[in-house]
Amino acid sequence: MKGMVFTEFLELVEDRFGLEDADAIIEASGSEHGGSYTAVGNYDYKEMVHMVVALSERSGIAIEDLLHVFGEHLFTVFHRKYGNFFEGVESAIEFLGSIEDTIHVEVRKLYPDAELPSFAYPERSDTRLIMDYQSTRPLAHFAYGLINGCVKHFGAPLKVEMQDLSDGAGTHARFTLEQAAA
Ligand code: HEM
Repeated sequence: MKGMVFTEFLELVEDRFGLEDADAIIEASGSEHGGSYTAVGNYDYKEMVHMVVALSERSGIAIEDLLHVFGEHLFTVFHRKYGNFFEGVESAIEFLGSIEDTIHVEVRKLYPDAELPSFAYPERSDTRLIMDYQSTRPLAHFAYGLINGCVKHFGAPLKVEMQDLSDGAGTHARFTLEQAAA
């Protein structure tokens, strides 16, 4: 998993929970590199899972909720860092519908070692999108947060529902997005 994901996560933890918590969860990551994450490095995604579990234990906030908040936050970071991906895109449905064939394809060119999920789109129109998340990593709630971050960014009201298709494992999920009635 890209170092940027780790450094952004730790910054968010420091901002919201303070330095002491950030240090404690780095310790819990079980990393063999002493917890010194750099944006350009690459780390085992399990270290991230360990940190989220530790933060959940310390804060009493559910793991799913932490992943969600982090996903929402990371979307604003992506928007800041990769502004060109947003050029000419007018809606959340348009943007989210292009992750598999455009956004993550470009990401793959930039970072050949990125660990990306796959998305299938069994249904899409201007007002409704169904996207199926599938990954070897259990990050469906992180995807949910990214999706919500995207919906907030574009501002138009969309209802988003998540249905886990992996018995709660978070590796396969369906997201249904629908324009809210005016
Ligand atoms: C400008 C927009 C985006 C950029 C630049 C981007 C970039 C990336 C990068 C670099 C990673 C790989 C990190 C690694 O190697 O671990 C990643 C992973 C991921 N991306 Fe995107 N992404 C974008 C938008 C989105 C959106 C809107 C979603 C919404 C569903 C999404 C879903 C995910 C998920 C869930 C992962 C984690 C890996 C996994 O679940 O297996 N991405 N993305």
